[in-house]
Amino acid sequence: MKIEKIMVIGSGQMGSGIAQVLAEAGYTVYVNDIKEEFVEKGIAKIHAWLDKAVARGRRTQEVADQVRNNLIPSTDYQDAKDAQLVIEAATENRDIKLQIFKQLAEITSEGTILATNTSSLSITEIAAATSRPEKVIGMHFFNPVPVMKLVEINRGIQTDDATAEAIKELSEKIGKTSIDIKDSPGFAVNRILIPMINEAIFALGEGVATAEEIDEAMKLGANHPMGPLALADYIGLDTCLAIMLVLYNGFNDSKYRPAPLLKKYVEAGWLGKKTNRGFYSY
Ligand code: 3HC
Repeated sequence: MKIEKIMVIGSGQMGSGIAQVLAEAGYTVYVNDIKEEFVEKGIAKIHAWLDKAVARGRRTQEVADQVRNNLIPSTDYQDAKDAQLVIEAATENRDIKLQIFKQLAEITSEGTILATNTSSLSITEIAAATSRPEKVIGMHFFNPVPVMKLVEINRGIQTDDATAEAIKELSEKIGKTSIDIKDSPGFAVNRILIPMINEAIFALGEGVATAEEIDEAMKLGANHPMGPLALADYIGLDTCLAIMLVLYNGFNDSKYRPAPLLKKYVEAGWLGKKTNRGFYSY
């Protein structure tokens, strides 16, 4: 089945980035969220980026207009009826995702692929919530989506080969490199990256160095483009904590226990860039 129309569920940081790369590659994209204002905000972010790209001569006005035309606002899953693929990038909450997938499987046609951008939850469990688990797969993007080259393709135990092949092909068409990863807590990148961030938060909590010094150390000493604490703010501290808990519970291993300071910041509502306060102020 040729993929032409795609619904992206969730128009936050990840969802709007995913919608942007798909629309730029020529796909018709339903940008879906629970409220119109969320959808508008997600699309406005893409429009602002396109305006900047035109002003800098990186895109022609014509191309930018075409990308805009490829984006269709949606607040109704029924719009996915004629889509060949749905990519869910909603809140990282198990129960919400299970509910979304159950509904999507009922609304969409038999062959529609249902992908999730989950950063750590079990694809196998999400697939099992649907009536056609073989069409469910993980398609994990990285933030900022238009810049980061990787897509982790995470297959549930039930995912069929045709579904994995179609997602691999799509990833190539949108200029990404895909890697097949076994369905395992945190997959590959987050299993390695988020415990490193968590360790930086332990170090900060123990007074090893200041946030600025820890970040500078990792930039200069390990050549990371961004220090771990700035990256935590960028990803969102609630997301970092949620991923640590998935690792902790998924492996039943205390080495993944979340840093107490991470928990405290999340309790305080200091979630990073999105709340203008995390390890840094914005
Ligand atoms: N659309 C298109 N292009 C964009 C963009 C967007 N939304 N946002 C940025 N860009 C482009 C800019 O236009 C610029 O392009 P140019 O070089 O051609 O001008 C380029 O990206 C770099 O942008 P900036 O100059 O603004 O910023 P930096 O050079 O400082 O890079 C960064 C910023 C790419 C965020 C870099 O610091 C970085 O790579 N940081 C690490 C990010 C990372 O680790 N991400 C993974 C997080 S984990 C994750 O996402 C998984 C999840 O499950 C938690």
